[in-house]
Amino acid sequence: MITLLDGFRIVDATSNFIGHVVVENGVIIDVIGLDESLEDKKPLFSKYLMSATQIIRGRGDLYLMPGFIDMHAHFRYPGFSEKETLESASLAAARGGWTTVVCMANTNPVIDTIELAADIKCRSDALRLIDLYPVLSLTKGMMGKELSEIALLKNQKAGYMPLLLSEDGKDIADDEVFLSALRCAAELDIPVSCHCDLQNEAAAIQRAINLGLKAGCPLHIAHVSTKESVDIIEKTKWEHREFALTAEVTPHHLLLTNDDALRLGENTFGKVAPPLSSKKDRSALLDALDDDTIDVIATDHAPHTQADKEGGAPGFSGLETAFPVLWDTLIDNDEFTEQSLSHYLSAAPARILGLDDRGLIRKGMRADIVVLDPEKKTTIKFADFYSRGKNSPFLERDYNGKILFTMANGRIVENGW
Ligand code: DOR
Repeated sequence: MITLLDGFRIVDATSNFIGHVVVENGVIIDVIGLDESLEDKKPLFSKYLMSATQIIRGRGDLYLMPGFIDMHAHFRYPGFSEKETLESASLAAARGGWTTVVCMANTNPVIDTIELAADIKCRSDALRLIDLYPVLSLTKGMMGKELSEIALLKNQKAGYMPLLLSEDGKDIADDEVFLSALRCAAELDIPVSCHCDLQNEAAAIQRAINLGLKAGCPLHIAHVSTKESVDIIEKTKWEHREFALTAEVTPHHLLLTNDDALRLGENTFGKVAPPLSSKKDRSALLDALDDDTIDVIATDHAPHTQADKEGGAPGFSGLETAFPVLWDTLIDNDEFTEQSLSHYLSAAPARILGLDDRGLIRKGMRADIVVLDPEKKTTIKFADFYSRGKNSPFLERDYNGKILFTMANGRIVENGW
């Protein structure tokens, strides 16, 4: 079955032009610029027009971008279905334009075995919504003592291979245990996502970097929130160019400050780990994206029940708000171009995770596609979230820019057109 996406503004990290995208069996089989379709490719384009079972018209003003890739989300499966289920999180991801997601291991039980990670992947694949990759924790039960099954991954000939390893918000206190986990990751060449939020963030980042350098493993710093942390990452990237160090920032740290936390309730609805920081930190984070000190934007989608939030559980539901708040604030205020946003949301995470079949709109890539109308508005209403976590720090209002539909692996998985 051929789907012809006819006449869209095609925007990814490296291109911005009007053209057509042809999808067959989950793959982009052709991308044709409008000028080409008028010249050399005209016969081919006519062939696609004749054979397409589905033609979706973009009128030249709707945007077509690569699906977003979230390196950091909490799907709460197994163990916390009152907060989220695989299905509710996947629907929320699809609505938000996220077609590939890495989910964290702070579940019950902790995702510390290959079997459990593979089982989650399998259940998620059966939903036929998004492409989900559970991390494997570094230690058993995330207790910081014995290595999890990451030690067995190198002998795996087939089966599930995580794209990222992480101990989530629990830093491993013992340097030797941390180092041996990082050495395993180095052998596997899988990045370790360090959350660095137990103690002083900058100190925890510096420690992770020192150990990462020793182990020679790729290191990814999650949800960077302060200028001090940015400075450490920038210095390390300059001094150790061979070191595969990458970093992420969340939409909430990028767009909000501690004034918002106070407004929402510092210990309740405005509480997140790491906490929202100052205006100075916020502008350092924006600059850090601009100069590539920070590589990607990730949601840290952390759904909780109302009662958990009232009781002080940190975290925000982020999959459904990320795109509209970023587009409305950053693109409309000319802070970023559409291409750079696509870089942070798709191309850069694909590169870090080693997913060379996605992240750009190119012939041969997976048909993971987001179609949006920059002239339409998204109304954010927390009660309507697909996610079971209804807590968001962003205001309930209309945001410029609306995702019309999300296509994952060639199938439309969310249609809000
Ligand atoms: O605020 C947060 N909540 N930050 C995290 O990194 C994890 C999390 C959670 O799991 O609730």
